[in-house]
Amino acid sequence: MQAVRLERRGDVAVLTIANPPVNAIGPGVVASLVSAIESFESDRSYTTLLIHCDGSTFVAGGDISSFDDPNFSAAPFNSTLARLEALDRPVVASLHGSVLGGGLELALACHWRVALPSTKLGMPEVKLGLLPGSLGTQRLPRVAGIKLALDMISTGRTIGAQAAKDAGIIDEVRDGLPLETGLAFAQELISRGDGVRRISALITPLDGIEADFFANAANDARTKKSFYPAAAAIVQAVQASTLPFKGGAAVEARLFEELRQSRESMALRHLFFAEREAAKVPGLAKDVKTRPITRIGIVGAGTMGGGIAMNFANAGIHTVLVETSQAALERGLGLVKGNYDASAAKGRLTAQQVSQRMTLLTGSLDYAALSDCDLVIEAVFENMALKKQICVRLGQVCKPGAIIATNTSTLDVDVLAQATGRAQDVVGMHFFSPANVMRLLEVVRGAQTTPEVLATVMQLARKIGKVAVVSGVCYGFIGNRMAEVYMREAEFLMMEGATPPAIDGAVEALGMAMGPCRMLDMAGIDVGAKTVIEYGLAGGLPPDPSYRAVVQQMFQLGRFGQKTGAGYYHYDGRKPVDDPETARIARTLADVHGIAQRSDIARQEIVERLLYPLINEGFKILEEGIAWRPGDIDVVWTAGYGFPDHKGGPMFMADALGLGVIADRMAHYASTRGNAYGYWTLSPLLASRARGNQQLTDAKAGRS
Ligand code: 3HC
Ligand code: NAI
Repeated sequence: MQAVRLERRGDVAVLTIANPPVNAIGPGVVASLVSAIESFESDRSYTTLLIHCDGSTFVAGGDISSFDDPNFSAAPFNSTLARLEALDRPVVASLHGSVLGGGLELALACHWRVALPSTKLGMPEVKLGLLPGSLGTQRLPRVAGIKLALDMISTGRTIGAQAAKDAGIIDEVRDGLPLETGLAFAQELISRGDGVRRISALITPLDGIEADFFANAANDARTKKSFYPAAAAIVQAVQASTLPFKGGAAVEARLFEELRQSRESMALRHLFFAEREAAKVPGLAKDVKTRPITRIGIVGAGTMGGGIAMNFANAGIHTVLVETSQAALERGLGLVKGNYDASAAKGRLTAQQVSQRMTLLTGSLDYAALSDCDLVIEAVFENMALKKQICVRLGQVCKPGAIIATNTSTLDVDVLAQATGRAQDVVGMHFFSPANVMRLLEVVRGAQTTPEVLATVMQLARKIGKVAVVSGVCYGFIGNRMAEVYMREAEFLMMEGATPPAIDGAVEALGMAMGPCRMLDMAGIDVGAKTVIEYGLAGGLPPDPSYRAVVQQMFQLGRFGQKTGAGYYHYDGRKPVDDPETARIARTLADVHGIAQRSDIARQEIVERLLYPLINEGFKILEEGIAWRPGDIDVVWTAGYGFPDHKGGPMFMADALGLGVIADRMAHYASTRGNAYGYWTLSPLLASRARGNQQLTDAKAGRS
């Protein structure tokens, strides 16, 4: 099928873009647009040019994959837009779906814009570490004003059709089909005798813009978004819209090109595709049948159970929570209601929505309430014996074909699957806390999980707005297994004399949302310690008496983190404060375990010791087939653990650092720290890539 067609409808030339799935504009589409415009130019019998798109959306942007081409240039599309705008007969864009980035830039180069009521418009390039590079920073402020344009471009948020009309971005909102609506609009234009209008000929209005507006905005961008060069560049480009059009366009072109080649944008583009790739289950037949999910059961209405339930209620799915006591049930449902009320108080939900959602949530003390559920998720304490009991019970009460899922963060899903007596129906659904907020869902495929169960859960994840990544079964799956080595080194560093603020500060300076000590204090030292103890009982721990000694000692002392006012830190309200008691505990443990204390632990050492073993574990996870793709690991860490998205996740970062560098530093720590327990032993995959001077993502090296 041709990506661009030009057809006659009376005296209107209809230009249709048909480039599924989202009509993204790459070099091929640009070339076809040029031919279509030339045909229109040369045929004077047309009165009007109407541009619309086939499929579910107007152009959703430039083709993001084309930005990785070293020879990419925005110039061909930009000159095409200039040629379109320069036409001497009216050009109408009929918009529907998601009019984003290059799509909105195309629309703004047209003379008139009409949109269906459900249309969403925006310039989300900032989310890819870019700015709109096809004159969006120049045309949008000319019609919408500087404040709204800067807000839309800086946040990447979309606005609805009516808001776009109110802001002067489009001319009309009309119901109907895109082609018919566009044609009717064009006919009316002709009969009214309305002609061409060019946004590039307008002057960006400056009324209401204070003298220090741009200086303040630039300062904000530099200080609050210091990891994202696009933020300051956007302010600069929008400010340049106050220049004559050509001058502003030159500023935008230069900044766009700088950003396109920046590490941050490459990292964010990598994550854009990695998130979408993660949703694809290799080898899953296209026609695999998913199971209908209309009623869900959750066992345990604690921190996780309640949050998980909210996801389903938000999606309109009836959910029943089962607990051991009325008090626990009421506490759980009360917390959920409290969360909804807080959203309502912020204006994010109406009172009616809160009550609709609460009606979808019911509670019971009887497992029989689970007998008609299509999916039951257990979210009881992290204890193998208890979870096994629950699984036996679920195997008995759930109806045939019901999916049984566990929210365990570390335990062996295959053991739990066996306990149900129907391992084919069992899968891990590892939500992250707070489960109603965090985007990540690790979907753990057991040895016997059937493809249709996996496909059903992946589809459900999308429905509730989660980014789902499939993991194989191992201790902690992808995320917590890697977090374990990260915490291990954090504690060794503590025993060697580094304070929690020094440890956290080192990785937070790279953009990590929270360092390891703050993270565990928030999740609960008790939760972390119990996991380590449980792992030890399962025989998983190295025979190292100093392994995670700090967390176990803190647990003994009742220092559970934020919830008890002290953990690695002492808490002043919710504010973490360095606590000399932690240093004392660490020093005592260092003495017990014969660990030498030092006062000269450099920031670079902290970063390397926290991140390189974590990356090494990621390589092991790949070579064992626990994760299918490096990008899956990157999605887990950026969506679930606050790893900086501008670094693209740990595996993307590893390639950027150079695998040889990581291998060398691992060898350095093996010799300086000792390697009795294999902590610094390289994964064979990392070792071979480093030796071959290859990248993890080298397709020629076998994995892409
Ligand atoms: N370029 C290339 N591929 C794109 C794309 C784009 N701009 N937008 C979406 N796709 C692809 C996805 O990779 C996916 O491919 P797959 O099926 O092979 O995995 C497919 O289209 C469908 O995408 P989603 O799964 O995301 O579909 P949804 O229906 O959930 O969402 C959407 C649709 C809202 C359009 C969403 O895809 C989206 O937000 N896309 C990105 C929009 C964007 O960032 N536009 C700006 C691009 S940069 C630009 O325009 C620069 C310009 O200023 C020069
Ligand atoms: P929690 O202690 O807040 O809640 C557990 C709930 O299970 C309690 O309300 C308890 O009354 C209930 N329960 C215990 N036995 C029961 C039974 N036989 N039948 C019904 N209900 C029963 O624990 P939390 O934090 O919600 O953890 C639950 C699970 O989620 C664990 O497996 C944990 O590892 C996992 N998880 C926890 C995360 C967290 O940050 N808290 C993050 C991701 C997973």
